[in-house]
Amino acid sequence: MSKSYKIAVFAGDGIGPDVTKEAFRVLDVVSDLGGFQIDRTDFPHGSEHYLETGELLPEEVLDRVRSMDAVYLGAIGDPRVEVGLVERAIIAGIRFNLDLYINLRPIRLHSEKFCPLKDKGPDDIDFIVVRENTEDAYAGIGGIFKEGTLDEVAMQQMIYTRKGVERVIRYAFELSRKRNRQKKLMLVDKANAIRAHDIWTRTFALVGEEYPDIQQEHAYVDAACMWMIKNPESFDTVVTTNLFGDIITDLGAVLQGGMGVAASGNIHPGRVSMFESIHGSAPKYKGKNVCCPIAAITAAQMMLDHLGEENAACSIESAIEGVMRSDDVTSVSASSGVSTDEWGDRVIEQIRSL
Ligand code: IPM
Ligand code: MN
Repeated sequence: MSKSYKIAVFAGDGIGPDVTKEAFRVLDVVSDLGGFQIDRTDFPHGSEHYLETGELLPEEVLDRVRSMDAVYLGAIGDPRVEVGLVERAIIAGIRFNLDLYINLRPIRLHSEKFCPLKDKGPDDIDFIVVRENTEDAYAGIGGIFKEGTLDEVAMQQMIYTRKGVERVIRYAFELSRKRNRQKKLMLVDKANAIRAHDIWTRTFALVGEEYPDIQQEHAYVDAACMWMIKNPESFDTVVTTNLFGDIITDLGAVLQGGMGVAASGNIHPGRVSMFESIHGSAPKYKGKNVCCPIAAITAAQMMLDHLGEENAACSIESAIEGVMRSDDVTSVSASSGVSTDEWGDRVIEQIRSL
């Protein structure tokens, strides 16, 4: 009997269902060719479901998800709902409850034409950000006191545990070794202003003693942003906090051509992990068939890689490469002139021709 993978799918809001559809069309093709099965279970949870039922992400859904092989998420966010409510419940909810402590965000330029920087090509922009994914200002420690009054006080704690910092740093060192490129790992923090970031500096140095073959670098987050634009070729593997990782990977996405291409894996090695684009739900484009699903398809590729279907993952990667390099593709924005399903068709066509 062929292998079968149980995938929990949260297509979500806005363009989430549109791009998820393309990702699963591609998955259907590569699973057919590769002789394995994708056994998909759809969950309706998202903003629409919340507006209809008042339900966000119940415990029994999390329990079902825990028994699956992976989670695939389209996008979450809807302007009709209180800012961040559903995102925190579902995206952060899955990250925290499944203890997905790694947020892996590759930054790879497929072709020079997508890059907003002058004279930079695919050889210059090929690095990976390892974002801590279960702590920091996202931990939910904080709140608003006397809200709406003149005495209002708002606070949110940045939490870093030794365990949380150490495991993500160790993962990043291992990844840098495995990538076997520049064999460099850069810690990005703001220890000059945020005293608590000292735990990152010390833990990085300590874990780094076990990796003498990996060059250790450090940059404050403000400088890291500057270097990402000025010398992106000097980056190889980056490890950083949850909040900074969120911010610098949007910058990274633009170096690749835009939010239409940037994907991520929320990972706990050896456990059920979640894969998603890094873009949001772009509600104004919902159902318009204009958004680029390459990020969503790349997330599916990362999912297959995590599941151990490396060949299928590689074929998606080569197909994306082929599509992105074809002459009539010049942008991944909603005005690219290539419709959502046409992007999917093109990737599938490339896979079949490999
Ligand atoms: C991301 C998103 C989320 C984050 C939001 C939607 C909570 O921006 O995955 O990068 O901040 O992590
Ligand atoms: Mn983000």
